[in-house]
Amino acid sequence: MTGPRGITIRPPRPQDLAAVIRIEQASFSDPWSDAFLAEELANDVLRMALVAEGPEGVCGYVMAWRVAEQLHVLNIATDPALRRRGVGGFLLREAALRAWAQGLREITLEVRRSNTSARHFYRKRGLQELAVRKGYYADNGEDALIMTGPLDSVLDSD
Ligand SMILES: CC(C)(COP(=O)(O)OP(=O)(O)OC[C@H]1O[C@@H](n2cnc3c(N)ncnc32)[C@H](O)[C@@H]1OP(=O)(O)O)[C@@H](O)C(=O)NCCC(=O)NCCS
Repeated sequence: MTGPRGITIRPPRPQDLAAVIRIEQASFSDPWSDAFLAEELANDVLRMALVAEGPEGVCGYVMAWRVAEQLHVLNIATDPALRRRGVGGFLLREAALRAWAQGLREITLEVRRSNTSARHFYRKRGLQELAVRKGYYADNGEDALIMTGPLDSVLDSD
């Protein structure tokens, strides 16, 4: 599937790892380790990993688990130089499409309370803040907000 600015979404290949590590380190205060990223990129029965590829190479990724009827998004990030151009939405929508085809019907995730841009991003796609996990993040004791919504609200968004 081709989206904004000639971007395509596809399952990751082993050679994508370096780009994913670069985006991860540019995106998070407490990035996942290289080994953990490599493991999550390996598609298997429970995991879903996708990368966005543009003319300059890999520019974003999403990693999720399938848990019963839920798509649990563990990690999503786009290249800081290409944000707010639709790449993140395209990635999430494609993950939702694939999950829907596999019978999943809900989407859920945790987000840092301070991550206002991601909270906007998810709210715009129909997710709601359902509960708080107090002091969830080990690096600074920050709360996690649990966000959830029907998978089809992500499909219906831009
Ligand atoms: C969240 C993230 C993946 C969105 O990727 P993206 O490529 O910018 O996504 P899109 O362009 O499809 O959507 C952008 C939307 O997100 C929201 N958003 C993004 N940055 C925002 C900001 N600084 N302030 C307010 N809203 C913001 C808006 O709703 C925006 O839509 P708009 O541009 O029409 O207003 C990206 O910001 C990112 O990689 N952040 C760092 C990693 C991260 O925090 N991941 C989420 C972990 S739970």
